[in-house]
Amino acid sequence: MRLEALGDAAWQHVNNRYYDGAHYDRRYEDYVHDVQFWCDLAEASGRRVLELAAGTGRLSLPIAARGIDVVGLDIAQAMLSRAKSKAGADGPRFLVGDMRDFDLDQRFDLIMIACSSICHLLSDDDVLSCFASARRHLDAGGTFAMDLVLPARETAIADGQWRPRFGYLDPAGRGDVTVRGRRSYDVASRILTDELDYEFSDDGRVERATRVSRMYPFDQLCPLLERSGFAIRECHGGFGGEPLTDTSAIQVLICERAPRMAG
Ligand SMILES: C[S@@+](CC[C@H](N)C(=O)[O-])C[C@H]1O[C@@H](n2cnc3c(N)ncnc32)[C@H](O)[C@@H]1O
Repeated sequence: MRLEALGDAAWQHVNNRYYDGAHYDRRYEDYVHDVQFWCDLAEASGRRVLELAAGTGRLSLPIAARGIDVVGLDIAQAMLSRAKSKAGADGPRFLVGDMRDFDLDQRFDLIMIACSSICHLLSDDDVLSCFASARRHLDAGGTFAMDLVLPARETAIADGQWRPRFGYLDPAGRGDVTVRGRRSYDVASRILTDELDYEFSDDGRVERATRVSRMYPFDQLCPLLERSGFAIRECHGGFGGEPLTDTSAIQVLICERAPRMAG
């Protein structure tokens, strides 16, 4: 698929510094607590895995290292270029595509959407379209799984105030990158907007990136999964199988193809 063909809002909102692969990897260097979970689930599910919104291959690469066939799909070329540069000859196949509508002419044992990437879909219609594409690509008996934040924690700092957010060494080797941000939340649409100012210590320049996402509480996501022909097999509040509660940081949902589509 040609990237220009995706030249709509979904691509536009990842066309900024936050989704620059080298910067993303620096930012997420210490974010490793989910890797074991996803690798184990992939191994238990079969031999063919599709990661939607695969980014820089943070998860696709270690899964492939276990000898599993992995396809990673992402809308941002800047993320996939980085993923490809890290993958060896036997690594995952990385493809540019939109998870809301894709056709890979292939079926999988596990389709996964990790690291709250589902929150990039900004309407129920987009989620339903994504789930329909996923279902078409899932083998009978296959697993569809995702993890995503719980809204309460994410919206707790959505007060419009600028505050320090994160920092890392510039991947270009030119000093530090310091990021400040302010967050706002629209309760009616459940859209969370992060404005992030990236300040580069070498020349003091500041780049603004805007990150837009939508919150999906468990009770809003369940009916969308059921309408799309998925049954929730397990849900947890962490990667170690913790119970899902109102105060969990994360919701982990493991689903299977329901025999019939719900009503
Ligand atoms: C938080 S990153 C997660 C990347 C990777 N899964 C990980 O765990 O590190 C979210 C990813 O979603 C991708 N994305 C956003 N909208 C998308 C869409 N409509 N289709 C495919 N990928 C999308 C972004 O380009 C980005 O790489």
